[in-house]
Amino acid sequence: MFDIPYLDLPPLRSAAGTVRLPGSKSISNRVLLLAGLAQGTTAVHDLLDSDDTRVMLDALAALGCGLRRDDGALHVTGLGGRLAVHEAQLFLGNAGTAMRPLAAALAVLAATQGGRFELSGVARMHERPIRDLVDALRPLGCTIEDLGTPGYPPLRISGTAGGRLATTTPIRVRGDVSSQFLTALLLALPLVADQDAIVIEVEGELISQPYIDITLALLARFGIQVVREGWQRFTVPPGSRYQTPGAIHVEGDASSASYFIALGALAATAAAPIRIEGVGSDSIQGDIRFVDAARAMGAQLSSGPGWLQVQRGRWPLAGITLDCKHIPDAAMTLAVMALYADTPTLLTGIASWRVKETDRIAAMAAELRKVGAAVVEGDDFIEVWPPTKWLPAVIRTYDDHRMAMCLALAAFNPLAGGHVPLRILDPRCVAKTFPDYFETLFSVATAAPEDVPVITIDGPTASGKGTLAAALAAALGWHLLDSGALYRATGLAAQWDGISPDEEAAVARLAGQLDLRFEGGRTWLRGRDITEELRLESTGLLASRVSAHPGVRRALHDAQLALRRVPGLVADGRDMGTVVFADAALKVFLTASPTERAERRHKQLISKGISASIADLRADLEARDARDKGRSVAPLEPAEDAQLLDNSHLSIEESVQRVLGWWQQRGPFPA
Ligand code: DC
Repeated sequence: MFDIPYLDLPPLRSAAGTVRLPGSKSISNRVLLLAGLAQGTTAVHDLLDSDDTRVMLDALAALGCGLRRDDGALHVTGLGGRLAVHEAQLFLGNAGTAMRPLAAALAVLAATQGGRFELSGVARMHERPIRDLVDALRPLGCTIEDLGTPGYPPLRISGTAGGRLATTTPIRVRGDVSSQFLTALLLALPLVADQDAIVIEVEGELISQPYIDITLALLARFGIQVVREGWQRFTVPPGSRYQTPGAIHVEGDASSASYFIALGALAATAAAPIRIEGVGSDSIQGDIRFVDAARAMGAQLSSGPGWLQVQRGRWPLAGITLDCKHIPDAAMTLAVMALYADTPTLLTGIASWRVKETDRIAAMAAELRKVGAAVVEGDDFIEVWPPTKWLPAVIRTYDDHRMAMCLALAAFNPLAGGHVPLRILDPRCVAKTFPDYFETLFSVATAAPEDVPVITIDGPTASGKGTLAAALAAALGWHLLDSGALYRATGLAAQWDGISPDEEAAVARLAGQLDLRFEGGRTWLRGRDITEELRLESTGLLASRVSAHPGVRRALHDAQLALRRVPGLVADGRDMGTVVFADAALKVFLTASPTERAERRHKQLISKGISASIADLRADLEARDARDKGRSVAPLEPAEDAQLLDNSHLSIEESVQRVLGWWQQRGPFPA
């Protein structure tokens, strides 16, 4: 994922194709803890790799669990219910799914086996309540100290070996603030239920019941059959002992699926639907019920084991009134779908939104208003009226992955009469559960080509275009077109086939059917890795010759246009600003003195162990410049409206900052 302070989304118009979802956060962290506590080694497949699972893994490592990765699985060797480490400081970020269950497990283990553990997180974690869990554990004989505000992390958990816990009377826990407190007890108490059964009684209405179903299903996989009576009473059987199931598969995240279900309902057609892989009709996650809500708003949906397929049904969408207690996380997506309805949407039963990664009711209301919606919020509800006029908006994300993921869907406003850009601040916060969210979204979303911003970097050979373009693309989170590579590959293909670079028609034919692939920084031509060959001086000369033919340039034209994809394109070459992307929003013509360029190329070659004379290199550069400038088609020259940048005396970073500064002034949200 790119490391950028904001991501601009152009107005988007359609979506089609297949996405594969990352593993479920809720399942991943429960499985990790269970595997970490169990006897034996568990091979965990399709584990989510994200901020929240990383803090759980770090905690397990600190507690002495064995962790080994191979052939796509993570092998966790558990503690077998016995503490291996009796003192540790655990930093748990903003992961409620790590903080609550680890606090409970360590509390009962420390109280019986002795130990001293400190659990902390980011500032927001220290504002997320844990009092109800602590209040349930203390009467058992667990020692838990608040190190900050009472009722909130950080916590110190301690105990001495040989302690006994008062588990013969029912343990009472509140269920109406977060179901994670009950989950935490359910995961922890089997560790101390070797003699007697332990009963947990829920006080108040239990919210988010489907998450308890996930907990019970996973406990069963690890050998513990909890007896449930309604949603009020749960009995952990005597003789409980965690046993590894050997291998376990983590299903795709159903909450993450909600964004792509919404996407299908907004922007996909029957002929080109959105297919979602990794989660489907057999899911054990409560948020899969989001499909019913999406259907009620108008989505047309089919599903099978491990897959969902969605397309637009009713349009505009229909507003709904829904009690969302059963789908608290996915319900946020409904609030954004509401922008595309023809009647208001009222979501109730969402009080828990206020104690999540941020106060999600307040955050959602504020950001939906920015795009033009009218919103009424209450303690436990939100009501959304679709915009009558869409507004360009800079969206705050509050360090909340779901705010970023949901609100990105507002970029499809052209489908509802808008045509406004959207800026998502701190887009990297999606790393909490879905590090590749935006890349996944962009792989299926399309915009009108003229709405996709392009920055062109033209200039002579060895001016540093490639380096500058790549750095800009990374800084903006955009696609990159190295057009020189297309001409270079064409030159190589001609050479392989024994075709002279001067045979225009034959070379143009090759250019039109180049089997070229760019992947992970390497380049393949006809299945052969040409990464090194592509950069050779001799290949550059070949390219310079084949690129002089109008037929070759025509043959490569469409391939270059096709790379103009959301969220944007940085294109480097000779005629990017003058010919191929003549409507580019920002054109840069990059130069450096011939001496400087010859010296840079010399350094490059030396670093690869190739010797060369600076004088020869300079002569070569000048010959290529002359050919690129002198040819009749698309000669090398600055576009009329290009910004000239002589980087002879600038570092790469300085050049990047210069161009980003220009872009700031011209982009959708001028500074
Ligand atoms: O940027 P480069 O050195 O990889 O380019 C190799 C040759 O390809 C260069 O001499 C000119 C040609 N070229 C071109 O004519 N038009 C482009 N857009 C890019 C490269």
